[in-house]
Amino acid sequence: MISSLSAMTSTPTMWFASAAVCILLPSSLILWQKICKSPPSWIRELETLGVPRKKKLPGTAVVCGGSIAGLVTARVLADHFEKIILVDPEIDSDKPKTRIMQYYAAHVFLSLFVASARRLWPNFDAELQAAGGRIVPADTQVHYSGVELGTPYKDYPAGCLPDTLVMRRSSAQIALQRLFMQHTTTANVTILAGTVRGIETSSDKAVETVIVRERDGTHVSLNDIALVADCTGTTQAGLKWLESAGFSLPENIRYSYNGNLRYATLTFIVSPELEATLPLPDLVKNTILVYGFVSHLESGPTTFALVKTDNNTMQLLVGNNGDGDLPRLASEVVPFLSNFRGKAPIPSWVVETIRILCENCSPSFDNIKIPTQSYVRYHMVPAGALPSNFIAIGDAKLQLNPIHGQGFTKIVLNGITLNSLLNTVDPRSNNLPRDFAARYFKNDAVNTEGLWDATRLHDYGYSTCEPMKGETNDTGGLVRWFELKLISAATQDDEVASALWHVRHLLAADRALLAPTVLWKILWTRPRF
Ligand SMILES: Cc1cc2nc3c(=O)[nH]c(=O)nc-3n(C[C@H](O)[C@H](O)[C@H](O)COP(=O)(O)OP(=O)(O)OC[C@H]3O[C@@H](n4cnc5c(N)ncnc54)[C@H](O)[C@@H]3O)c2cc1C
Ligand SMILES: *[C@@H]1O[C@H](CO)[C@@H](O)[C@H](O)[C@H]1NC(C)=O
Ligand SMILES: *[C@@H]1O[C@H](CO)[C@@H](O)[C@H](O)[C@H]1NC(C)=O
Ligand SMILES: *[C@@H]1O[C@H](CO)[C@@H](O)[C@H](O)[C@H]1NC(C)=O
Repeated sequence: MISSLSAMTSTPTMWFASAAVCILLPSSLILWQKICKSPPSWIRELETLGVPRKKKLPGTAVVCGGSIAGLVTARVLADHFEKIILVDPEIDSDKPKTRIMQYYAAHVFLSLFVASARRLWPNFDAELQAAGGRIVPADTQVHYSGVELGTPYKDYPAGCLPDTLVMRRSSAQIALQRLFMQHTTTANVTILAGTVRGIETSSDKAVETVIVRERDGTHVSLNDIALVADCTGTTQAGLKWLESAGFSLPENIRYSYNGNLRYATLTFIVSPELEATLPLPDLVKNTILVYGFVSHLESGPTTFALVKTDNNTMQLLVGNNGDGDLPRLASEVVPFLSNFRGKAPIPSWVVETIRILCENCSPSFDNIKIPTQSYVRYHMVPAGALPSNFIAIGDAKLQLNPIHGQGFTKIVLNGITLNSLLNTVDPRSNNLPRDFAARYFKNDAVNTEGLWDATRLHDYGYSTCEPMKGETNDTGGLVRWFELKLISAATQDDEVASALWHVRHLLAADRALLAPTVLWKILWTRPRF
């Protein structure tokens, strides 16, 4: 969940080609600067998110999976379709979700998520705050090898830095589900407690029927299908449905690599009296993280972060890439942290705060092994070989290394793309255009593929990472070299720090790092790490 590095969101080849153009043609520098600094398309498209169309499209849109991707997708689709059915075996209760492994892990919601959720749910702030969530300025307090990566307060009027949400996943999930149920458009959403088992298609390769197994074991067929959205997360169930329905997908449609990631979340219940004794500097009382540490690639693949979460909870999360054990007892935590080495030491107030918490709060431990990272490349499927009305959103399509905290933000990026594309559909047509799904996957890949490239190539720098088929740990060496130059410069220069921060929060496109004034500094600033 640590919002940190791996910033770039377009492909590395594009990067270096653009850089070359920029260096070779000085006459185009001014234009190039302007292009690089222009806002990404999704920021412009945010304007129409949450705005219902006048005449709804006919038919039923089925959303398979009712976690964050499912809720966002159903909310977006309710602005476009007459009827929505949201299917999830665990949707109709506030009980803990057993199918979401990271249900108790610490999560942050980056600025683009908050900006989008506010459009979808005008009472987002009030509801999430009432549930105990913290809406705070997007100051991450991430320290690379102990050195702070700055936050661009100076770019915004006082008090106007974009917001983020910090909350336990479990609390956020319940609050978002409530928010969803209250919205006026939900009047036309039917909630179905069940598991989607498959799809049937018509002769023109559109999904016609969705088969659901209800909790009592009975099967129902949902008909008159306008659109099906796979929001099944890690299950990536859409792949199976398509294969069973006779679609032959390319063999390498699903890329995956194994980061061998492990992740421990310690939760502390902190009474106001105890909180008053913690030696926290004032600044970090209103930031995303109290303190975050990311090790230098070469000194071990470990990160940790202390976070103030909802109500009276704090969480300490520790992530590593397979080497050594993560702490499992309160008494092991402070000795474990003493193994962290960097350019700058961990401040003593951080260690002292964690010591007080461990001694007084008997933390609960949630230690998990994170499944492989994967990318289902639906956009590579040849035209006509996918149903025209099948899409996938969230982890069902792209599952990233969670340490960068991009999971939910990626979901709203998918949602913005979907909403914009639906706005181009003629309300007089009875069906979605034949190329609808292909266009969704193509448009979406432009916005999200770079997240896969940047996080994957970053992870290849760790000796414990098992690269995907066809790649080795040498792949992406140039990207890792550039990343280190970028971080080095960001710790020394405000403009670079600001560009990196905006890209990290998905408020700027990665081309912001290639603006001549920024790129120049990245390449020429004295290396620090
Ligand atoms: C340790 C960890 C920490 C993370 N930290 C962050 C963070 O700080 N910030 C962030 O943005 N992201 C973070 N992430 C990523 C984030 O948790 C995921 O991106 C997010 O949960 C994806 O949501 P989703 O709705 O796509 O899938 P999921 O949350 O996995 O939900 C899938 C849903 O589909 C349902 N389902 C499955 N199969 C079927 C079926 N056949 N029919 C019907 N329903 C079905 C399940 O019941 C479930 O409700 C983290 C992930 C991990 C592992
Ligand atoms: C957090 O506090 C709010 C407001 O007091 C309460 O409604 C909510 O249930 C609390 N959340 C948890 C998980 O305890
Ligand atoms: C629900 O659907 C009906 C029938 O299509 C439509 O008239 C009504 O406006 C919809 N309500 C909402 C809140 O979208
Ligand atoms: C790269 O992989 C090889 C073989 O898999 C391994 O021996 C080597 O240590 C790795 N190098 C790094 C820098 O991780």
